[in-house]
Amino acid sequence: MTQLPVLYLVACAAPPALRIRSGIQAGQDAGWDVCLVLTPSSRRWLADDIHDLEKLTGHPVRSEYKMPQDEDLLPSADAMLVAPATSNTINKWANGISDTLALGLITEAIGLRLPLTALPYCNNAQAAHPAFDRSVEALRSYGVTVMLGDGGFTPHPPRQGDLDAYPWAKAVGTLTT
Ligand SMILES: Cc1cc2nc3c(=O)[nH]c(=O)nc-3n(C[C@H](O)[C@H](O)[C@H](O)COP(=O)(O)O)c2cc1C
Repeated sequence: MTQLPVLYLVACAAPPALRIRSGIQAGQDAGWDVCLVLTPSSRRWLADDIHDLEKLTGHPVRSEYKMPQDEDLLPSADAMLVAPATSNTINKWANGISDTLALGLITEAIGLRLPLTALPYCNNAQAAHPAFDRSVEALRSYGVTVMLGDGGFTPHPPRQGDLDAYPWAKAVGTLTT
């Protein structure tokens, strides 16, 4: 059997995480072996779903760094999609902070030159903080495809997000197998 290329889907704690099955499905439909990585916050949001998500992906759902003596539980990634990407994770990622497994993986992935896409989800008040534009610009200059604006995600007024419009398949389509 041929091995499928491996996509790490890294989900932060924003409302599209509650529809992470759509992201997994979009990745699998595009021919990826999808592994799900959660931030500690999104893990809390999805605590009741972990077993089902592990069945759906066929892999453990990871959210904490392993112990040094432990073996890697996931196959190596060929690409990573950060979706939903919170303003918190975008700002920390742009600054090289690695205090969660999710950040550690995506920070290192910049150095490894892996294909990387971020599909943000935040409101326009969060996006108006001056750090946000700086972080998006920095990540783009590091080679990350940040799908903000036309053709991607546009920040909404607080409490007016549209989960149905979140473009999971389009984000997966920016990454080639
Ligand atoms: C109900 C709820 C909705 C939230 N929605 C968003 C959001 O759409 N975008 C965002 O950037 N942060 C949102 N947050 C805040 C993040 O969850 C918070 O910044 C968290 O620390 C993010 O952690 P993470 O980036 O490690 O996942 C929301 C928080 C709550 C409780």
